Amino acid sequence: MAADFRYRRLGYLSLNVSDLEKTTAFLTDVYGMDVAGDAEDGSRFFRIGHWHHDIVLKQAETPSFGRSSWELETEEDVDKAMAHYQKIGLAPQLIPQDEAAMLGLERAFRIVEPKLNTVWEYYARMSYTSAPPTNGLTNFEGGKHYGLVVPDCKSLTEYMVENMGFMVSDYLEGWRASLLRAFPNPNHHSFAPLQFPSPKPTFHHVAFMVKEIDDIGKLFNRIKRFNVEIQFGIGRHPTSGSIHLYIYDPDYFVWEYTLGMEQFPEEGAREPRRMSADPSNFDLWDAVPDTKHAAKFPGLVTS
Ligand SMILES: [Fe+2]
Repeated sequence: MAADFRYRRLGYLSLNVSDLEKTTAFLTDVYGMDVAGDAEDGSRFFRIGHWHHDIVLKQAETPSFGRSSWELETEEDVDKAMAHYQKIGLAPQLIPQDEAAMLGLERAFRIVEPKLNTVWEYYARMSYTSAPPTNGLTNFEGGKHYGLVVPDCKSLTEYMVENMGFMVSDYLEGWRASLLRAFPNPNHHSFAPLQFPSPKPTFHHVAFMVKEIDDIGKLFNRIKRFNVEIQFGIGRHPTSGSIHLYIYDPDYFVWEYTLGMEQFPEEGAREPRRMSADPSNFDLWDAVPDTKHAAKFPGLVTS
C-alpha cells in the first residue's frame, strides 16, 4: 500500500562501536563533527549543524549498525505514518517519552521492516541547538544518506517503494544496487541497498554532503596524518554525479564525504535509469573500491 506520509530528511543513524573513545577521536579529528553530549545511558551524540544530533554512538562488544531515524515534515505525517504502518501489519511502537526526550525528539515511533528486520524510527521534531558547531574542519551541507549490503536488493527496493514512501532514482542493471530517495526529499538518494561486496547483510557506508571540493581535498590529505585507509575514491559517481571519498573508521564503518548530488523535483521527476554494471562505467574518475576489508564490515542489529 502506497505511503501517504512525507519525509523531510534522514535524521540520524545509531551505531554500536567497539571503542567509544577511538571512534569519537575519528569523528572529531578526522571526519570533522562536534561532540554534542553524552546521554545518561552512556551513548554519545555528534552533530554537524544545528540539530540535536546526526549520529549517536553506543559502546558495545561488537560493532554493528543499530537503526536509522527519519524526520517527517510534520507531526501529522507522524500520525499518518503510524496509521500506515499499523495498516500494513508492522505494529509501530511509540518509544517511551523519557527515551524520546533523551534523543532530543518530541515523540517518535519505531517499526521493524520485514525484509532485513532492521529498525526504522520516525519523528517530526528534533531539538534545535542554537550554538553553531565549532569543529571547523569541514563545511557540511546538511544532507546525508546511508547504504547497507543486502542479500536481495530488488525485493527490498520493491518493498520500500510499495510500502515505505521511497522512489527509485537509479539502479544498476541486474538490480545489484539501487539508489532511493525519501520522497519528497530532493536528494538523488537517502538510502542505498547494495548486493555487494558480500552475500551477508552488513552496513555499507554513511555519507554526509559537503559544500566545497576543498572539503574533500582536505580530507584526502588529513587522513594520511591519521593513518586512515581509503575504501573508495577520490572519484565521481556516474549515477548522482557526486564527487566522493570513502574512508574506514576504527571498526570498519565506512564514512563518505559527497559533493554535488542531483536534485529531484517533487513533480515531473525523471524516470529511474538502468545503469550499466560494466566496471568501466563504475566510476567516472576510474576509482576502484577497496575490497580487502569487506569481511570486516559491521553487521546489522535485527529484531
Ligand atoms: Fe554514498
